[in-house]
Amino acid sequence: MQRTNHYNERMSLVQLQRVDFSVGGPLLLERVDLSIEANERVCIVGRNGEGKSTLLKLISGELRADDGEVRVQNGVVITRLAQEVPQDTAGSVFDVVAEGLGDLGRLLARYHHLLAIGDLDALADAQAKIEAQRGWDVNCRVEEVLTKLGLPGDMHFSALSGGMKRRVLLARALVRKPDILLLDEPTNHLDIEAIRWLEGFLKQFAGSLVFITHDRVFLRALATRIVEIDRGALTDWPGDYDNYLRRREERLHAESQANALFERSSPKKKYGFAKASRRGARATKVGCAH
Ligand SMILES: Nc1ncnc2c1ncn2[C@@H]1O[C@H](COP(=O)(O)OP(=O)(O)OP(=O)(O)O)[C@@H](O)[C@H]1O
Ligand SMILES: [Mg+2]
Repeated sequence: MQRTNHYNERMSLVQLQRVDFSVGGPLLLERVDLSIEANERVCIVGRNGEGKSTLLKLISGELRADDGEVRVQNGVVITRLAQEVPQDTAGSVFDVVAEGLGDLGRLLARYHHLLAIGDLDALADAQAKIEAQRGWDVNCRVEEVLTKLGLPGDMHFSALSGGMKRRVLLARALVRKPDILLLDEPTNHLDIEAIRWLEGFLKQFAGSLVFITHDRVFLRALATRIVEIDRGALTDWPGDYDNYLRRREERLHAESQANALFERSSPKKKYGFAKASRRGARATKVGCAH
């Protein structure tokens, strides 16, 4: 799928610079830097509760950093598929998807309801408002996404299976034609067949993806870069999942060798090192105070 981008592809689409974030206690993310570029698929990995979902919400602008900056390039559209199906999601499949387009989407949803109940006066009024906003193109967009994802527009959202609900919410995130699509565990509640379908669909997606998943096959199939969160810090691992595993193993090996070497060194050397470290720490603190 090719499209002419309305942003500068040579610049980062989003940049997080020295971002701090906490939820009351100690910092969850500390002085975090991260850039998202055009046409990449970034997977965020980390243990439960490390702040992966929080990072997506900072990128989407739903959460504000305590300190540091989140810069989004002009015109870049970012949408997010949440980790859980929101409890308050109601209405038909068409309504839920159209809601992704904000006020105009809600107006279109109202038009469809009035059409169904045959309220002609209210229908004319809604029609005039839609025309004034050139809303029919937007209506086509909703229909297009519904067709592409094989969704029944008239069905009630609440009557759908968990997997179908996720698919509707994916459609809602896609209908705005995002430049960055944020997906928080998109394979939850999907069966194997649906996961493989999603994989293929996302490979064709004309934009950048930032996603979280515990599904190794899905991760391996899609990621062009891995970002790992560990105790508030991010590590960037360019390349695919296999490259990440290899390089991470190499790093752990190098670290354990360095530790073993340190353990074997003479007590005098160890003592000297400890003294030097303490001095270093003190020097840093003094430096920070100025
Ligand atoms: N609104 C909130 N109020 C209080 N604590 C919160 C809030 N949101 C998140 N947290 C806490 O912040 C931490 C990070 O949450 P987050 O959901 O970002 O983690 P995660 O890496 O996505 O975890 P998981 O793998 O379980 O989805 C967790 O300890 C969570 O309990
Ligand atoms: Mg999460």
